[in-house]
Amino acid sequence: MFRTRRLRANSNIRNMVRETRISKDSLIYPMFFEEGENIFEEIESMPGQYRMSIDRCDNVIKELLESGVKSVILFGIPGHKDESGSEAYHDHGIVQEAIRYIKKNYPEVYIIGDVCMCEYTSHGHCGILKGNDIDNDSTIKYLAKIALSQVEAGADMVAPSDMMDGRVSEIRKLLDANGYKNIPIMSYSAKYASAFYGPFRVAADSAPAFGDRKTYQMDVHNIREAIKEVYDDVAEGADIVMVKPAMSFLDVVAKVKEITDIPVAAYSVSGEYAMVKSAAKNGFIDEEKIMCEMAVSAFRAGADIYITYYAKELAKCIDKGVIG
Ligand code: PBG
Repeated sequence: MFRTRRLRANSNIRNMVRETRISKDSLIYPMFFEEGENIFEEIESMPGQYRMSIDRCDNVIKELLESGVKSVILFGIPGHKDESGSEAYHDHGIVQEAIRYIKKNYPEVYIIGDVCMCEYTSHGHCGILKGNDIDNDSTIKYLAKIALSQVEAGADMVAPSDMMDGRVSEIRKLLDANGYKNIPIMSYSAKYASAFYGPFRVAADSAPAFGDRKTYQMDVHNIREAIKEVYDDVAEGADIVMVKPAMSFLDVVAKVKEITDIPVAAYSVSGEYAMVKSAAKNGFIDEEKIMCEMAVSAFRAGADIYITYYAKELAKCIDKGVIG
């Protein structure tokens, strides 16, 4: 008889043979910054997550740092939207100001700027329109401008989430030309046209006014296409590649890990968080255990980095020894 239970006898031996280790260093916390003052509004579908103005962000950042999480990815909700999403690359746009504030007051925080247009355009698409089409080649010029403005404000890394072709090399080129050769790009390489972004779009007021994102985000049926996307981004100079969403796309995470030699990030998106929260609220599941299991499975699939709204809570679970 094969006695596999020998190595499960108690927690000492179980922990000794554990194959997946989780570190707080690998967690990134997403934050929503809204233009204005004295705003701290809970996102209805995402209890515990807030749209906040810069003057109300201190507690969130302090608690995050206390928990041991040091990296954030920032999204902006501007006061004004237009056709070209001009607030996205404005020197004093909401994200640029948030970056400056955090850099100045919390220099230990590693700041990642999400580079996209959908929160800033009046039509809610992730680029510049030509008729009803999202024009790839003019959009990537804007994306590079957005990235540059975030880096000029103090971002440590940029993360394009738009899924236009050629944006990584366009961003790399502009950053290099402006003396930012050492700023890494984390590309949302395999980003699927997923219904799991629903709560985010309500939170960021970024749902497309017409159509959907299927002409730029990936078809959920595909995985070989994800490999193509990843290889393209690596060739264009991406430093980290991302798979998004996480939970329903762990096969993609595993595949991307296998075919690359750079770090792989997985983004556990708003819909994943909202599902756990609402099921837990009803008493149907154990929130902490489910949250931990989701995180572990992303790392087990091969993620080196995990972007999650549960970053702080996961860090506490690592402290308690629930996972790690
Ligand atoms: C912007 C962007 C989205 C998310 C991250 N960046 C929304 C989208 O593509 O519609 C989703 C994040 C989440 O759901 O938590 N393009």
